[in-house]
Amino acid sequence: RLLSPTADGGVLDVQDGLVEVDAEGRIARAEPWSAEDPPAEVVDLRPMVLLPGLVDLHAHLPQLPNAGLGSGLDLLTWLDRYIFPLERDYGAVTARGTAPAAFRAFAAAGTTTVVAYAAIWADSTHEAFAAAEAHGIRAVIGKVMMDRLTYDTEIDPAEILETSLRQSDELAARWHGAADGRLRYAFTPRFAVSCSADMLRESAALARHHGAYWQTHLSEDAGEIDEVRRLFPDASDYLDVYDRAGAVAERAVLAHAIHLSDREVARLVESRAGVAHCPASNLFLSSGMMPLGAYLRAGVRVGLGSDVAAGPEVSMFSVMRAGAVTQRVLELTGRADRSLAVKPIDWLRLATLGGAAVLGLEGSIGSIEAGKEADLIAIDPRLTTPLPGDEPRIASADDVLSRLIFRPHPNMVRAAWVRGRLLAGPPGLGGIG
Ligand code: GUN
Ligand code: ZN
Repeated sequence: RLLSPTADGGVLDVQDGLVEVDAEGRIARAEPWSAEDPPAEVVDLRPMVLLPGLVDLHAHLPQLPNAGLGSGLDLLTWLDRYIFPLERDYGAVTARGTAPAAFRAFAAAGTTTVVAYAAIWADSTHEAFAAAEAHGIRAVIGKVMMDRLTYDTEIDPAEILETSLRQSDELAARWHGAADGRLRYAFTPRFAVSCSADMLRESAALARHHGAYWQTHLSEDAGEIDEVRRLFPDASDYLDVYDRAGAVAERAVLAHAIHLSDREVARLVESRAGVAHCPASNLFLSSGMMPLGAYLRAGVRVGLGSDVAAGPEVSMFSVMRAGAVTQRVLELTGRADRSLAVKPIDWLRLATLGGAAVLGLEGSIGSIEAGKEADLIAIDPRLTTPLPGDEPRIASADDVLSRLIFRPHPNMVRAAWVRGRLLAGPPGLGGIG
C-alpha cells in the first residue's frame, strides 16, 4: 500500500501499488500495480505500507545517551545538570564511536532526514558529518555556538566569538552540499541565553553567505523567556532578538516556539521562517503546549522534531502521538478549537512535506511522487494490531496512520531508503539489501 501526502494538499492512497525508482534514485512513477507494465526488476513488499521517509527537524546528536532521563526538570536546570556535561564529553573520539549508531537509530525509527545539533567542538561535528556521509542518511548538522555560559572551560572568553565563527565557516565550506546535496550545514547558535547579539548577527550573515541553514531555540520555557527578556531589554519580544540579528527568514529553523504573542506569530508567517514543533520534548520538560492548530491556520510553516534528548524517543511516530495528546489537552481545557484538530494523516504530512518545506526541499523529498528522490520507508502494519496475528482491519488512510501513531511497535519500520539506497538500521526485509 502506498500512502503519502501530495504536494497539491491531497493524499496518495493506493492499496496495491508500484513505486519505480530509477538509477539516479528518483521516483519514476508511483501508481497502482499493473501486471502489464512491470519494471525489469521487482521487489515485492506486500503487505507493507510504503510511506515517505520522515523528517526530524530538530535533534541533538550528543544528547542521545541521556534520552529518557530528567523529566519534569525545568529547561535551564536540565541543561546544566544533564546536558552540558554530556556535550562537553562529545569530542572527536566519542562522536566517531557513537554517531554511526545514532544514525542507525534514526533510520530504524523511519527518519530519513535529520536536522541535528552537534556539540560546540568543531572536530566532533566533522566526525558526525563523516558518519552521516558513510551511513547514507540525509542530514543537516551544525556545530553549536555559545559565547555565553559555554561549557568550554579552556578557551579564552575573548576568543570564543571569533573562534566559533571561523570553525563554523570552515565546517560549512567543507560539508554544506556534500554527498551531492545529501548533507547540509546549519549555523547553530544555541539560543539567545547563550549567545551575544554579535554571535547571532554574525552567524546569520555566514548562513546567508553559504546559502546554508540557521537554527536555534525559540520561546520554549518560562525561565528561559525571563532570562532572554533580562539579557535583551531592547527587544520587543523573544523573536525580535533574532530579527534584530537579521536571522528570521527562510532557511531559519526555530525549535519549539511555544509561548508566542500574536505579533511573533504574524512575523513568522511574514518572514517564512520555519518552526520545529517538538511536543514530546515539551511534555517531557513541562515546557508548555504549542497551539499548533492556530499556527497552521495563521500560515506558519511547521515541521516536527524529536528534540532528543529533551524528547525521550527518536521515533517521529511518538512525536506525533505527543502532539496529538497535546492538542487533546488544549481542547479539553478550552484553549484549542476542536474544528482545527490535526487528523492522523495530517501528522504524517507535518512529519514529511511539512519538514521538507521548512528546509526548502519540498521539491525533492517529503512525498511519494514522480520526480522526487526516493526517500521511503516500509512499515509492517501487522505489528500494530491489538491481537497478535489479527488482520490489520484498517481501511482509510487516517486509520492506518492512527495505528502507527497510537500503537507503534519498535520494529514496525522494516526498511528505509534514501535516494533509493537501503539504509542500515531497520530490521530489514528478506531479499532486500
Ligand atoms: N535550549 C537551549 N539548548 C537546548 C537543548 O539542548 N535542548 C532543549 N530542549 N532546549 C534547549
Ligand atoms: Zn533542542
